[in-house]
Amino acid sequence: MPARNPPTGFSSPSHDEEREVLDGIDFLRLPRHVAIIMDGNGRWARARHLPRIAGHRAGIAAVRDVVETSARLGLEVLTLYAFSRENWRRPNAEVNALMRLLREYLENELETLHQKNIRFRPIGRVDELPPSVKRALHKAEARTAGNTGMEFLIALSYSGRTEIADAARQVAEDVVEGRIRLDEIDEGVVDARLYTAGCAEPDLLVRTSGELRVSNFLLWQIAYAELWVTQDLWPDFRRKQLYQAIVDYQARERRFGDIDSHTIAARTRSRRRTTKP
Ligand code: IPE
Ligand code: IPE
Ligand code: MG
Repeated sequence: MPARNPPTGFSSPSHDEEREVLDGIDFLRLPRHVAIIMDGNGRWARARHLPRIAGHRAGIAAVRDVVETSARLGLEVLTLYAFSRENWRRPNAEVNALMRLLREYLENELETLHQKNIRFRPIGRVDELPPSVKRALHKAEARTAGNTGMEFLIALSYSGRTEIADAARQVAEDVVEGRIRLDEIDEGVVDARLYTAGCAEPDLLVRTSGELRVSNFLLWQIAYAELWVTQDLWPDFRRKQLYQAIVDYQARERRFGDIDSHTIAARTRSRRRTTKP
């Protein structure tokens, strides 16, 4: 049975402050899907007079902590934005280093992900990645395909607009080949052809390093996501910030275009009063 308190497996956090934030989470109202734009690796490195790649390397510790914490919290889906299609514009040396780090991450972490019952799935134009990265991704996906815990999506060579265009092409093909009729096309038909088909849409979108933009990430899926931005740079992000994002998310009122819940409740109460004999 679900409980309001943390599930077992939370070793007592070393910092009281972290414990306090964790205690503020209502485990009955967790976001189902958290999506994160991991940003600020370059600035983290620059502040230390290090090459940008040192920032990307330092970001791996944050990835490890956030993935394992999210699984332990009981999130259904975690999506990390690791490499956009626009990121191909960066210098070759940086792109190559990012691809190498990705391979290293998968080599080092695959067994841990599997042991933690995490299902790993890359999303994006994965075919555009170098063959060695594709092989590592396929291996990780196949190894964890039977797992039943958190789904960990990693967005690579990802673009929200490309994703929507790819879905549109598939819908068109289905119409041309007679699998669906033109008048059957609705939001669900498009949704089922996105890379994220079958996943709950993100409830919470986190961005690090203070930038107030979505940079072509999950454009369709974040229609009603709650946004949470921290000034912290990605290599400095840890579970404490994730806890804080969830606490803040739980204090928000999501309306989905409706009126506020207090007015709805008051309206329901007054209707009950007037219909009583
Ligand atoms: C995020 O950090 C990692 C990727 C986009 C691959 P950046 O590399 O964008 O770092 P900043 O924004 O330049 O600080
Ligand atoms: C977004 O960060 C992409 C990823 C985190 C992978 P960028 O650093 O590429 O975004 P912009 O260029 O600042 O919008
Ligand atoms: Mg950036």
